Amino acid sequence: MRIAVAGTGYVGLSLAVLLARGSEVVAVDVVPAKVEALARWESPIRDAEIEEALAGAASGERPLALSATLDAGEGYRNIDFAVVATPTDYDPARNFFNTSSVEAAVAAIRAASPEAWIVVKSTVPVGYTAQLRERLGDRRILFSPEFLREGRALHDNLHPSRIIVGADESDPESMEAARRFANLLAEGAEDEAPVLVMGSTEAEAVKLFANTFLALRVAYFNELDTYASSRGLDAARVIEGVCLDPRVGSHYNNPSFGYGGYCLPKDTKQLLANYADVPQNVMGAVVDANRTRKDFVADQVLERASALEEPLVGVYRLTMKTGSDNFRASSVQGVMKRVKAKGVPVLVYEPTLSAPEFFGSEVTHDLESFKERAGVIVANRWSDELADVVGKVYTRDLFKRD
Ligand SMILES: NC(=O)c1ccc[n+]([C@@H]2O[C@H](COP(=O)([O-])OP(=O)(O)OC[C@H]3O[C@@H](n4cnc5c(N)ncnc54)[C@H](O)[C@@H]3O)[C@@H](O)[C@H]2O)c1
Repeated sequence: MRIAVAGTGYVGLSLAVLLARGSEVVAVDVVPAKVEALARWESPIRDAEIEEALAGAASGERPLALSATLDAGEGYRNIDFAVVATPTDYDPARNFFNTSSVEAAVAAIRAASPEAWIVVKSTVPVGYTAQLRERLGDRRILFSPEFLREGRALHDNLHPSRIIVGADESDPESMEAARRFANLLAEGAEDEAPVLVMGSTEAEAVKLFANTFLALRVAYFNELDTYASSRGLDAARVIEGVCLDPRVGSHYNNPSFGYGGYCLPKDTKQLLANYADVPQNVMGAVVDANRTRKDFVADQVLERASALEEPLVGVYRLTMKTGSDNFRASSVQGVMKRVKAKGVPVLVYEPTLSAPEFFGSEVTHDLESFKERAGVIVANRWSDELADVVGKVYTRDLFKRD
């Protein structure tokens, strides 16, 4: 079995490593630095399990049948399956995901391997895969939703909550190929997981409805916190009391500045766009709630800043979560934008950012001077590094986790 993976980001690389334990895998990317890192068995992303797996392969202790290339013609030749894990960013002008990188990868795969089954792992609009099959006159395209979390990408694929593959239900060969791909994922995993094979449009809906539910939960506890803060109540006590109901549960309930990261903001907007002429209230409210929350947080920060003689707002980390290695669409950026729009200067402490400025605001790596200069310190997630300036810190990280 020979498998190609298009894209070596969180999704593509974790799947490439997982599948390379049992099959020959070639990872294809368009960024030379990523391919070069993989050729040295170094991970281009921060993920403990991926780094460990690549180190095991480098030392020969735990070999992986994995190679990487920039050459699509070579990488996609003689393969049985191709997994597409390229970015799909929400395009606000068209109100839909930009799926051009998926289509570029599909075209390159098809040019090199006319018979391979292509499995789209990128998140796409509901109905996209069926339309693509139709538009290209190509039966051999499947969709499999990806549920991993950044930073735990390989871990989540080794211990999956479920494996879902979507196919063309009217085509027995498509359904059979979906079952074969699901088996490959199941064989690579360390735990057994429920396997569901369904129509590709249903599988696409599963992905967007799952993420919108997670966003709804975040938005709910954030709005509870907004209420408690506005009425002088202890939000942590209220949340604890609510969540001891086993039907609610005590997971994923820590307030923040809003849901953020690469997936939830864009996936909720995409699902709302998919509703188009279908009646809804909740989906739109989930999208709106995130904006309202950031407005509220920014107002709270501005109120604190207005009490200062020379207001300077410090942003402690641009990342979404503790331990994250990127800050795509992190909610603190939305707060920062609102604060700056009111003319209040911002100083950013972000040790992983080498540029001296971030959207026109100074970036520093010097934590001590950051703590001294900033009058208010805004932290989406608490860190003990801030313990000595706790009086300056504005955070809603009530439970000091995730
Ligand atoms: N990050 C997550 O937590 C997560 C979870 C589930 C689903 N997804 C979805 O999976 C997709 C990929 O996400 P990601 O986080 O892995 O993205 P990423 O940005 O980390 O990685 C994408 C990779 O694709 C490469 N690429 C772009 N165009 C290409 C092309 N034509 N051919 C080959 N490679 C190409 C990029 O250079 C990059 O290395 C997105 O649709 C995302 O919504 C992401």
